[in-house]
Amino acid sequence: MLTRRDLLRSATAGAAALAAPSLLRADGPKGFELPKLPYAFDALEPYIDAKTMEIHHDRHHKAYVDNLNKALAGHADWLAKPIVEVVRDYKKLPPELQTPVRNNGGGHLNHTWFWQMMAKSGGAPKGELAKAIDASFGTLDGFKKEFAAAALSQFGSGWAWLVKGKGKPLAITKSANQDSPVTEGMAVLLGVDVWEHAYYLKYQNKRADYVNAWFSVVNWDFVSGLFAAK
Ligand SMILES: [Fe+2]
Repeated sequence: MLTRRDLLRSATAGAAALAAPSLLRADGPKGFELPKLPYAFDALEPYIDAKTMEIHHDRHHKAYVDNLNKALAGHADWLAKPIVEVVRDYKKLPPELQTPVRNNGGGHLNHTWFWQMMAKSGGAPKGELAKAIDASFGTLDGFKKEFAAAALSQFGSGWAWLVKGKGKPLAITKSANQDSPVTEGMAVLLGVDVWEHAYYLKYQNKRADYVNAWFSVVNWDFVSGLFAAK
């Protein structure tokens, strides 16, 4: 049975998903929390399988959150910051905390965005976002080709990103491990996780097949929200 607290939580989560930058808010004074998935584990089938989603969210993302809270224990000021600020500013931390916060803070931020960047009916870019994609990449297919090339050429674990560009409206970049473009001062619009934990159960070593399937579940409304918010 849902409690009033659950209802308030889901209403807040829904509003935040629409408004996009829920990451601009702190989770609370006790530190960071694993966000609920905005859909069921099997919602993205057949493109992303339920078992992968369950392990990815409940184990991998949870570990980033737990390890981030552990690393920042005793640093109440940092525990109370929005995660996007922690990842942007981690180089201001004492040297011994920078690596664990870079890895686990990045993992928490990247995955919190990643879940919201996917949806069962992804749709297609519209309005200003569609115009920006055309201006930067010619067509949506042109964007997909360039984005997939970044995802496939990331050696080892990492991410490919669509970010606000300098000069052109949009740009594509990639990062290793859990590094985030926000640390480089870029505004993130879309990211694909190319760690093997994101696809190995279903796709094994075929990263190209995973990325190609993943385009079917991109939540373009969410991307539009991030584009409009920046
Ligand atoms: Fe991941």
